[in-house]
Amino acid sequence: MGQAVYLQTYGCQMNEYDSELIRSILTNRGYHFASTTEEADVVLLNTCAIRENAHRKIYGQLDLFLPIKKQRAKARQPFIVGILGCMAQNLKDELLEHRAVDLVVGPDSYRALPDLIGNIAKTNQPEVAAFLSEYETYSDIAPVRQEGVNAWIAIMRGCDNFCTFCVVPYTRGRERSRSMESILHEVRQLVVMGYPQVTLLGQNVNSYRCGDDDFADLMTAVAQVPGVQRIRFTSPHPKDFPIKLLHVMAEYPNICKHIHLPLQAGSNRILDLMRRTYTAEEYLRLVDTIRDILPMTTLTTDIIIGFPTETEDDFQETVRLVQQVAFDSAYIFKYSERKGTIAAREYPDDVTAEIKTDRIVRLIEIQRQISFHKHQSYIGRKVHVLVEGKSDKQDGHWIGKDDGNITTIFPSPLQTLGETVSIEVQQANSSTLYGVTTDHSVSVAPRGCIPVAGVVTPL
Ligand code: 5AD
Ligand code: SF4
Repeated sequence: MGQAVYLQTYGCQMNEYDSELIRSILTNRGYHFASTTEEADVVLLNTCAIRENAHRKIYGQLDLFLPIKKQRAKARQPFIVGILGCMAQNLKDELLEHRAVDLVVGPDSYRALPDLIGNIAKTNQPEVAAFLSEYETYSDIAPVRQEGVNAWIAIMRGCDNFCTFCVVPYTRGRERSRSMESILHEVRQLVVMGYPQVTLLGQNVNSYRCGDDDFADLMTAVAQVPGVQRIRFTSPHPKDFPIKLLHVMAEYPNICKHIHLPLQAGSNRILDLMRRTYTAEEYLRLVDTIRDILPMTTLTTDIIIGFPTETEDDFQETVRLVQQVAFDSAYIFKYSERKGTIAAREYPDDVTAEIKTDRIVRLIEIQRQISFHKHQSYIGRKVHVLVEGKSDKQDGHWIGKDDGNITTIFPSPLQTLGETVSIEVQQANSSTLYGVTTDHSVSVAPRGCIPVAGVVTPL
């Protein structure tokens, strides 16, 4: 048997998906997977670089590996530590300065992983592979998925937008799309395997292109695959959100009515410094169009507070926009300067930590109240919930998401994972709906069983 690998994933859904590709690449070359670091010969951390605390977390983890490395060396047993993903691409050789690190592999170099690990095992010399490709989409690799009701599918990789705060264009390289045929092939296989939900992933899904086909064409084709119960996507950029997509969403009931539309800031001056290439007014117009065509859609967003030079007035413009749009929920982040970005070069990080904390606390509270009121309006209504598992918050209860991606908890002894049930909402808070099942199920459990680390045939 080959070496045992422990793989830990940090960060976004794209990293979750990449870890499934890494599992496939390593399994095909004879490696197997351990469930703890103690049982592993190789530990791989698939990392994130989006904010400074993501970096700190990894360095904290690496420090914990130092005594294990020492013990293993004494016992003449292997313990190879690899940093993969965005932090690997961002810091490259610099990571080797940490004594725990043997291997650094960026997001476009995963095919080389088996050989790189093999080399280190033979030579005990560190390896770094961090070149960015204009073509790599891993479209011929069938991900080894984790247990669950949702399957991620990366439809494009990279980002060409270069928002000034963002490290992604440097860690994930230029935009490139997978062929529509390979995506549809994967979706058909996922249906056969029993996955009730697929989520199409891309740093910027609006940029998807395959010949003359764009993202709305891809969504249409995916929605038409027989047996696909639920389709989600993330994330579109507001600057070029395709109105055609809204009509496709309206036409196909299996496309979930939820749009995650990152706003980032409500002040035009800050949006300009961020190079978002839209104004607050344009964003609001887009929201109006979305709600005209899809009145029931939920809208969520990402916001950064404390971008360089942000004044209280700028912040108040963000507050006003948040109130005007009334998002269903929002991820709110403190600005974190990232090495190599345009903002790091051009704008000193001049909003103090205290001001950032004060603003984020205020904005989170404002959004919490908006979410609370929105969720109250669900009381007495029926929502369709895809059952994801047992709730760990409430004994004997199940948890799932409604069409608009709102977490819903309900009691029922009879539910099946992957089933879609009709729930009458009885209570709600800012994050969760609570209800009871109505008489009839919306759908029976999906065909087959819920896959456990399903392996599909190569595409
Ligand atoms: N600082 C804080 N938040 C950031 N994001 C991206 N880069 C930074 C940064 N340097 C946030 C954006 C993005 C989300 C994924 O992370 O809001 O939409
Ligand atoms: Fe980063 Fe902007 Fe690209 Fe999103 S669109 S990944 S925020 S550069």
